[in-house]
Amino acid sequence: MRKQIVAGNWKMNKTFSEAETLITEIADALDEVDLKDAEVVLCPPSLYLEMTTDVAFESNFKVGAQNIYPEDSGAFTGEISPLMLKELNLAYCIIGHSERRKYFNETNEFIQRKVDALLKHNIRPIFCCGEVLPEREAGNHFDVVKRQVEESLFHLNVDAFINVVIAYEPVWAIGTGVTASKEQAQEMHAFIRGLVSAKYDGNTANETTILYGGSCNGKNARELFAQPDVDGGLIGGASLKADEFLQIVTSF
Ligand code: PGA
Repeated sequence: MRKQIVAGNWKMNKTFSEAETLITEIADALDEVDLKDAEVVLCPPSLYLEMTTDVAFESNFKVGAQNIYPEDSGAFTGEISPLMLKELNLAYCIIGHSERRKYFNETNEFIQRKVDALLKHNIRPIFCCGEVLPEREAGNHFDVVKRQVEESLFHLNVDAFINVVIAYEPVWAIGTGVTASKEQAQEMHAFIRGLVSAKYDGNTANETTILYGGSCNGKNARELFAQPDVDGGLIGGASLKADEFLQIVTSF
């Protein structure tokens, strides 16, 4: 059965000491709860990754980065490489987030290079896709997501693809307090699973973890995660408070 995952995307938040406190609070709280089969992933800013992996080593969560540059090393000032993450034993890396698409002009083709660079080092991409509001209002949301998935992921063979986690994040729901309804989430997740099934096979589609992201919080996580094709969440704002994040990770 496919893995259920809740990943916290801290984005560019928390000072070093605040991050230290939050990681400790989450690690302590995770010791007390039954996660069933769910996996918890913390994705702090890269500056805090080493500290986070040190705590994770003795705790019940995995660590992910928020971004990489798709080369192992070189003259790419300011960037970090998947080879560096590999040495930290990182399990996951978010890629294709809408904020990177918007503010850093990342294209489906560039994101494809990042997918390959991560898989080369056995780091699982958490691949984000999702439409902006005008695209949904025009009825183009399925086409947009299909193109994102096809152009960044469908060059992979099945053995590589099975390591990818997909996160459907409607851009109009990110950081807005407006969550997709459970019906909207389920409909898109089923659509994405159908794309995977058509490209690869039913078994691969069944094994693919598809997360929902966009104003998911302690109140709405349970009904979203109860949808048959929603396998957990990629959580932004609500992952910055230990109490609320814990409420979400126990919502399966
Ligand atoms: P949000 O962000 O939960 O704050 O809406 C989710 C994300 O951007 O991954």
